[in-house]
Amino acid sequence: MDRRKFIKNTSITGIAVASGAAISACNSSSENKPDVVITPKSVDKSKFPIAICTWGFVDANAAAGEALSKNKKALDAAIEGVAVEEENIKNTTVGKGGAPDRDGNVTLDACVMDSNGNYGAVLAVENITNVAALACKVMKETPHVMLAGKGAEEFGYSQGFKKENLLTEASKEALEKWKETSEYKPIINIENHDTIGMLCIDKDGDIAGVCSTSGLAYKMKGRIGDSAIIGSGLFVDNAIGAAVATGMGEEVLKTVGSFLIVELMRQGKSPQEACEEAIHRITTKNDKYKNFQVAYIAINKYGETGSYCIHEGFSMMKYQNGKNENIKSDFYNKP
Ligand code: GLY
Repeated sequence: MDRRKFIKNTSITGIAVASGAAISACNSSSENKPDVVITPKSVDKSKFPIAICTWGFVDANAAAGEALSKNKKALDAAIEGVAVEEENIKNTTVGKGGAPDRDGNVTLDACVMDSNGNYGAVLAVENITNVAALACKVMKETPHVMLAGKGAEEFGYSQGFKKENLLTEASKEALEKWKETSEYKPIINIENHDTIGMLCIDKDGDIAGVCSTSGLAYKMKGRIGDSAIIGSGLFVDNAIGAAVATGMGEEVLKTVGSFLIVELMRQGKSPQEACEEAIHRITTKNDKYKNFQVAYIAINKYGETGSYCIHEGFSMMKYQNGKNENIKSDFYNKP
């Protein structure tokens, strides 16, 4: 049977590297139940594992790829990979060292989604670096799916996460400079990186994803973007595939982009076609698209991948068969 038709017809029947302890304690493990009706013939597992992530986060993607190669489950590998950037203080868009809001608070958003459809998220968290691992704890250790602000932070300490100052001297200086004009103008392809979104397929063919960000630089206090919101920043359906977003969160939220991409793949579109349609949904609804960037990456159950963005300059990392490569994304806004 044609593979796309197979996705369309598939029924869903039931459908730490860094702060070691806290991250590795969130292992997905044996609870992973197969929830998909896909015959062994239809999926070529020799292609797996695969890790993809937004932008040129080489080390993060390599860390996830290597974890997958050592048989780690998709979610654990993605959390380990993303932790590399959360801990990279030179990265001003994720984790420690992330740009603060206009009042000088570094507030982080993150979510995780596993191959059983479970989801966990933390929003506007201060003083904790590994927020993807914290989102996983919310998913596994609480009766809830989202915790925000002080509640998320206090829950993190109760789970062994360290209290840290996330505002670096460099970020403080950049904020003071920004205050000279206080012009709120999100920068397209900021330093060629932004939110880290990572999608992994493990050796068993199970898919999971993670999204982690400090959000828009100099945002208003309390602003939440797409990254921690299920269906917008991230969506995973182990029967179909997964998608994750980066860029202007407000636009992703308004079009529920990652869910849209997975649903388009369910209807038979390739990951590439689905990412393109999700970007077109934004560009046809908002004639100011020239002023902001949005990018998506996606993977389907067969390990096929796609990426698309509004403006040139976005790329994704792909780890497969021991090779970790940077792939330039096609884009909408062509002259
Ligand atoms: N995509 C990240 C944000 O808008 O917060």
